[in-house]
Amino acid sequence: MDKPLSKQTALITGGATGIGRAFAEALLEADIGRVVIASRRHGVLANAADEMNAKYGGRVSTYIFDIRNQYQTEDLVRETIEEFGAVDILINNSGLAVPETVTEITNEGWDRVMETNLRGAMWLTQLVLPKMLEQNFGDIVNVSSQAGKNGYADVPSYCASKFGLLGFAESVRDDMRKRGANIRVFNFCPGLVDVESPSDQPPRPGSIHVRNMGRTLVYALSLDRNVNLEDINIYAR
Ligand SMILES: NC(=O)c1ccc[n+]([C@@H]2O[C@H](COP(=O)([O-])OP(=O)(O)OC[C@H]3O[C@@H](n4cnc5c(N)ncnc54)[C@H](OP(=O)(O)O)[C@@H]3O)[C@@H](O)[C@H]2O)c1
Repeated sequence: MDKPLSKQTALITGGATGIGRAFAEALLEADIGRVVIASRRHGVLANAADEMNAKYGGRVSTYIFDIRNQYQTEDLVRETIEEFGAVDILINNSGLAVPETVTEITNEGWDRVMETNLRGAMWLTQLVLPKMLEQNFGDIVNVSSQAGKNGYADVPSYCASKFGLLGFAESVRDDMRKRGANIRVFNFCPGLVDVESPSDQPPRPGSIHVRNMGRTLVYALSLDRNVNLEDINIYAR
């Protein structure tokens, strides 16, 4: 079963900035029907939506929520489905790092990282799945990291959250396979991504330009529905 991208709705957490914004623009360029960008900062969301709506013709909506708040996360998904019919593509992109070595980790830092990067993605996945299963169509895209594959001394909580996200995603993928559901799970594991250099400039040394994230997303989504694309390791050579 397929659904044209022009009839699909994508929900992108952290979609106003950096990688999330590049995902939003790439999907709009590929003619997606609707993009909902959701995060905490109203002004940042509104500016991004205004810019993209001017450029791509009014297909971007915003939603203010804190991924650490379960009620706000539930409202986000419920209201998006009520307004646009479904979340066809969920992009779990919101994330942050708290640089604390293992001997420095505080409960506050640990909770911030794990709740934002891992528990929030788990909630959102749980919340979008019933509708995806009902319509037997959906894509879940998780933004992990090379820090989900390798440990780095300065960000152990970040690494734990990004490794954890991959484990959670593999379990969801296995569950969808066992149910025979037409729901794919993609994981991005980027190295350093330059989210600031203009698109006509080379990226910072050691980084890839963020536009490559958008291109890769659209490519991955365009694959046949029965194709499993394992973790997308993408980094500068
Ligand atoms: N850039 C890189 O080199 C790189 C490499 C590997 C992986 N990643 C991953 O890529 C993702 C995007 O990162 P980025 O580089 O594009 O950085 P970014 O621009 O800082 O994006 C992070 C986004 O997360 C949102 N966010 C943070 N806390 C949130 C919360 N409590 N509730 C809802 N949204 C929240 C932020 O929006 P608000 O502040 O408005 O809430 C922001 O839009 C992250 O998961 C990051 O770990 C980045």
